[in-house]
Amino acid sequence: MSVHFNRKPLGILLDEAHAEGAGTLVRRLGAGSLVALGIGAIIGAGLFSLTGVVAAEHAGPAVVLSFIISAVGCAFAGLCYAEFASMIPIAGSAYTYSYATMGRLWAWIIGWDLVLEYAVGAAMVSISWSQYLNKLLLMHGMHIPTAIMAGPFEGGIINLPAVFIVACMSLLLARGTQESAVVNSIIVVLKVAVVLVFIALGWAYVDPANLVPFIPENTGTFGHFGWSGVLQGAGIIFFAYIGFDAVSTAAQEARNPKRNMPIGILGSLAICTVLYVLFGHVMTGLAPYTEYGGTHDKLAPVATAIAHTPYVWLQQAIIIAILAGYSSVILVMLLGQSRVFYSMSHDGLLPKVFSDVHPRFRTPFKSNMLFMVFVGLFAGLVPGKVVGEMTSIGTLLAFILVSIGVIVMRRTMPDAPRAFRTPLVPLVPALGVLVCGVMMLALPWDTWLRLVVWLAIGMVVYFRYSVRHSKF
Ligand code: ALA
Repeated sequence: MSVHFNRKPLGILLDEAHAEGAGTLVRRLGAGSLVALGIGAIIGAGLFSLTGVVAAEHAGPAVVLSFIISAVGCAFAGLCYAEFASMIPIAGSAYTYSYATMGRLWAWIIGWDLVLEYAVGAAMVSISWSQYLNKLLLMHGMHIPTAIMAGPFEGGIINLPAVFIVACMSLLLARGTQESAVVNSIIVVLKVAVVLVFIALGWAYVDPANLVPFIPENTGTFGHFGWSGVLQGAGIIFFAYIGFDAVSTAAQEARNPKRNMPIGILGSLAICTVLYVLFGHVMTGLAPYTEYGGTHDKLAPVATAIAHTPYVWLQQAIIIAILAGYSSVILVMLLGQSRVFYSMSHDGLLPKVFSDVHPRFRTPFKSNMLFMVFVGLFAGLVPGKVVGEMTSIGTLLAFILVSIGVIVMRRTMPDAPRAFRTPLVPLVPALGVLVCGVMMLALPWDTWLRLVVWLAIGMVVYFRYSVRHSKF
């Protein structure tokens, strides 16, 4: 068989998982930190902006069904991630799992693909962050000039606030995982509190008339209301769940990973699903869903909803929570990115600079700094719209490969110890492939084209560098 399909032996992976001492990551994160890490990465632009878009253009009050369908798809993939993360608790996440099950070439493809989810995703969220910062300043009579708020393709020079937040989060990550986890946990408390306050205060003002018809009649176009709208809405709102898998990239820094990894992955997903459904219910109950349409101002849905309550003053607090919330999404995405490249570099597929660990901080600080530059430039110069859709397609591809990996692993290594077992294999992974595959197919063709171009660049790097330096 070709060397491209060499698998990384499970024994070596487990030795790496147990390695300690200088030059390795340290196990400092408990179950609570891991759940917080998941929520830190999950709640962000998806909830605060796309809920309104999906309600107004695709599903009406049935946006809650879109949330549930999307969560079911994520849960299938999450159950597969949990088995792998409890079995091979090292940093590379989907990349490592693919290496153990499907061989080097697939592992490379998935590792390269994860750059779209984590690095490009972080760039996108930082661009949104800059827009909210501007909004907050506007409320106080200030604003950021276009020259330093937008890149050259959008009439400016560079988006400096986006570069700033990427730099802050990168420096924090380089300083220490434990410190990053503490900051993340504080932000998570803040943003979950805002979501709960919105639900609790809004609940009393829900007008049942706004929730009828629950699924508005299809307009004759696929995806515009009716069941097709609910489904397309699920594909769009999927973005709101991206991030629970990032928990698995911290597997090498988790205490008792066999127990805590499944808790971190599935716990954060479950908590966010409940919050999302309640948030969607209150939002569509406060105002007729049609009111959320017409504008793509991303704060509009929350502002529109609050305008139907006596708590308009909450708007400012919500923007602050959104700013903080986005910061933690960027933080955990950047964390995930550096940990995936750490593993790839460790295996020789990428230069050693990505796996050099700081002697005192015990973080892959050089990698953090390189990604600070790469993501910063991306965020500062490229329009948000271009980077946005890439995140979803990259993530869905990763979910599909991890689901297939569980089936392959059960056949090739049936007796290897698994602290957590995905239930009903092969049904659950097969459903994961199906649901994620359908969501991928629903994405526009130009997103597919960009995915192909990105993977083609990856192939060039693979054949020119990785093949020659690979250790396995
Ligand atoms: N789930 C993350 C968000 O919604 C990516 O911002």
